[in-house]
Amino acid sequence: MSQVRKDLIHNDLVLSLQESWDLLSIGATDRHSPLHTPAVATVTRDGAPSQRIMVLRSVDKFRRQLRFNTDRRVSKVSDIGHESAISVLGYHPGAKVQLRLSGKAAVQSTGPEADAAWQQASLYGQRCYLADPAPGSPLAAPGSGLDPAIEGVRPTPEQVIPARANFAILLVEVETIEWLYLAHAGHRRARFRWNAADRQWDGSWLVP
Ligand SMILES: Cc1cc2nc3c(=O)[nH]c(=O)nc-3n(C[C@H](O)[C@H](O)[C@H](O)COP(=O)(O)O)c2cc1C
Repeated sequence: MSQVRKDLIHNDLVLSLQESWDLLSIGATDRHSPLHTPAVATVTRDGAPSQRIMVLRSVDKFRRQLRFNTDRRVSKVSDIGHESAISVLGYHPGAKVQLRLSGKAAVQSTGPEADAAWQQASLYGQRCYLADPAPGSPLAAPGSGLDPAIEGVRPTPEQVIPARANFAILLVEVETIEWLYLAHAGHRRARFRWNAADRQWDGSWLVP
């Protein structure tokens, strides 16, 4: 991207918001994008922050929605059951843009969206959800939690059938986007809040 175009984007709230969604959308589809694996933070029952890396699976700008896949037995799912507040953080070194999103999370293990996400997952991806006992359970010895018979091999569609019961989608409804652009000449920072009453993003500049 030319410097002139960068300057145009980074001094314009509408274009900066557009860039944020563009980077997220590319992050979902391009596994080489640094935004493909953002940090996702929930709040535990004790009120402590808890973060982990997740693969960003899809982005819907118009529904303000991000989708991740997960095992419904993990701790983030129980965090969300207690407190739906969620934060997603990523940095794109090429674009020199940090994105910090906040919103509300919901977990769905059944329904058309979860079914579609399951169908899109590869057999290797589906195999992750066969872990028994559940991810996060203590182990007496090092191990993957998978049956040794399917470790290191491509599972058959029949073998992954039981995994479907453990699979869930984690949907984030984005409520704020904080965009930070790093530049020698002077950084730029903007915050966008979803204004539900007017159905629009309200943006404002912040000191970086
Ligand atoms: C590159 C990378 C990608 C990951 N993708 C996911 C993912 O898409 N979904 C997921 O639940 N966990 C994913 N994990 C594992 C999580 O970071 C985490 O260890 C696991 O989900 C347990 O999290 P929890 O106990 O905090 O819920 C990924 C880890 C790495 C390093």
